[in-house]
Amino acid sequence: MKNIINVGQFSKEELLQICDAADYYKTHQSKVLIDKTVTCLFYQPSTRTFVSFIAAAQNLGANVIPIQGVEYSSVAKGESFEDTIKTLSLYSDCIVLRHPEVGAAQRAAEVSEVPIINAGDGIGEHPTQALLDLYTIRTEKKQIDGLHVAFVGDIKHSRTIHSLAKVLSLYDVKMSFVGPEELSCEKFMSEFPNSEYHEDIGAVIDKADVIYMTRVQKEYHEPNVGMKLDTFGRTKTYDYKITKELMVKAKSNMILMHPLPRLQEIPVELDKDPRSVYFKQVKNGLFVREALLLKVLGKDDE
Ligand code: CP
Repeated sequence: MKNIINVGQFSKEELLQICDAADYYKTHQSKVLIDKTVTCLFYQPSTRTFVSFIAAAQNLGANVIPIQGVEYSSVAKGESFEDTIKTLSLYSDCIVLRHPEVGAAQRAAEVSEVPIINAGDGIGEHPTQALLDLYTIRTEKKQIDGLHVAFVGDIKHSRTIHSLAKVLSLYDVKMSFVGPEELSCEKFMSEFPNSEYHEDIGAVIDKADVIYMTRVQKEYHEPNVGMKLDTFGRTKTYDYKITKELMVKAKSNMILMHPLPRLQEIPVELDKDPRSVYFKQVKNGLFVREALLLKVLGKDDE
């Protein structure tokens, strides 16, 4: 596998291999990337993806070039995206790229001398997040087939939902999309025939095996486009929240997920609920990204 651009590249068998490799790296250390350099080039803010890729590369013995924000690079002088990628690929064995534009990772792969890993391209995809989400579901629920997964929040702009739903469509999974109508996306949801849409979380709270919350991605909303105005013409704040009262109605073995960062959609008081697994997702990201770096750098057999 040269690049990781979208989840459509992965067969079910490869997903299984990545989950097994992540299991292995949970308990084993290996410096097999000692002669490799991984560049993390992030044009957009990140905590988990940026840091976990750096930690994963370092755990495997690689050198890391961390670039978080391009305001002090020659991008600020007008250097093109393609020339930036070409240049960094000459110093690296792999580039982990986050960028605000859909398709940026594919554009990068077309000019790069080394593999590109898509760490989020606008509202497009976030494949490595989907793989760590799949790994978390498998670890917590033991199997994927037969689950009912409810995606809640900003269906239209959430790249984590876009990627995870595509991965789960390889399995026998019922999907519900829940959120404000303005933030739903008919075109995207219609890709999943075994799915349903609800505006109210109450429609799925007692049925779902997995509830995957997301924040409203305001950075992708044009002013007042897709945002309801209240009767005074002010922007409406979407109040999609999972509360303690809703958790009482949920299944006792449901798992509550979130790619994070969260805003108000999961109150801190729910962190102690054993069904809340969003910080387990954060930790699992490290092992899954170790497995992915080994895969793109051709060291997954070692
Ligand atoms: N889930 C996720 O992508 O988080 P960051 O934006 O902090 O990397």
